[in-house]
Amino acid sequence: MQTARSQKAFDPARLDATLRRTFDCWHVGPWSFELEILADIDAAVAETFKSWRGDGRDVVHSTEVAPHFGVMWPAGLHLAWWLYERFDQSLSSAERPPASVLELGCGLGLPSLVLAKMGLPRVVASDRHELAGRMLQRNARRMEIDLQFVPADWRVLVDSDDPPHTHLLGHDLIIASDVLYEPWQSGYLAAAINKLAGSSTEVVVADAGRRWFPQFVQALDACGFLCRSEELSSLPLANIGERRPLPPPLFRLLRATRRRP
Ligand SMILES: C[S@@+](CC[C@H](N)C(=O)[O-])C[C@H]1O[C@@H](n2cnc3c(N)ncnc32)[C@H](O)[C@@H]1O
Repeated sequence: MQTARSQKAFDPARLDATLRRTFDCWHVGPWSFELEILADIDAAVAETFKSWRGDGRDVVHSTEVAPHFGVMWPAGLHLAWWLYERFDQSLSSAERPPASVLELGCGLGLPSLVLAKMGLPRVVASDRHELAGRMLQRNARRMEIDLQFVPADWRVLVDSDDPPHTHLLGHDLIIASDVLYEPWQSGYLAAAINKLAGSSTEVVVADAGRRWFPQFVQALDACGFLCRSEELSSLPLANIGERRPLPPPLFRLLRATRRRP
């Protein structure tokens, strides 16, 4: 339970109002996505820690509270493009798009924005950081894109006896990108996916060379998923616009479904 002291120390609305933001534009398919992002990630980290000081909670590691949600990570951009190229109905190789998708650790949520823009009927994005939701919802509203945000921390999902929020369940596709940079994340993410995925849900996780990706694949395999991971040395991108990030050192994509009995 939060103490009065911690509530005073960490006020998401106050922090949201304090962090300096700017706009930047990314292109996926025929669309431009002008997104509100954090103007200066280092300043945002410093500001975030100031708002936690004296809170009394055990902040295990800086990444627990760091505002990593507020910048565009290459794996997210590449996943957005990969999904677009897979489901774009104007391409002869296109697959039928799924009816519903859940993004975990969405940050700016570009893959979710792209899939919602493509007309998927049900797109739910989630992140542990409340401010990610605020930023994503502002971005979606401004671009008139219809999606939902549900706050969800995989550790809480896994450790809690309560059933997961209904919006997190029943999806055809679960996606995530660049979410394996802490040792604990591989096990918790795999266990959370195991809790949320149905018998035919497909899981797609994009990674740009993070250390804990192989452990995650092992953990998901141990949960009973058939895992295929591919390394893409040349990125399958036609054009990502003027905001081309540095190419990731290694772009890996895991695709998994539950093994049939
Ligand atoms: C490096 S950022 C990547 C953001 C986005 N997926 C992208 O590729 O641009 C990692 C994201 O994972 C979220 N995250 C980390 N641990 C999490 C957890 N236990 N539960 C839910 N989200 C988590 C962070 O808040 C952050 O938004």
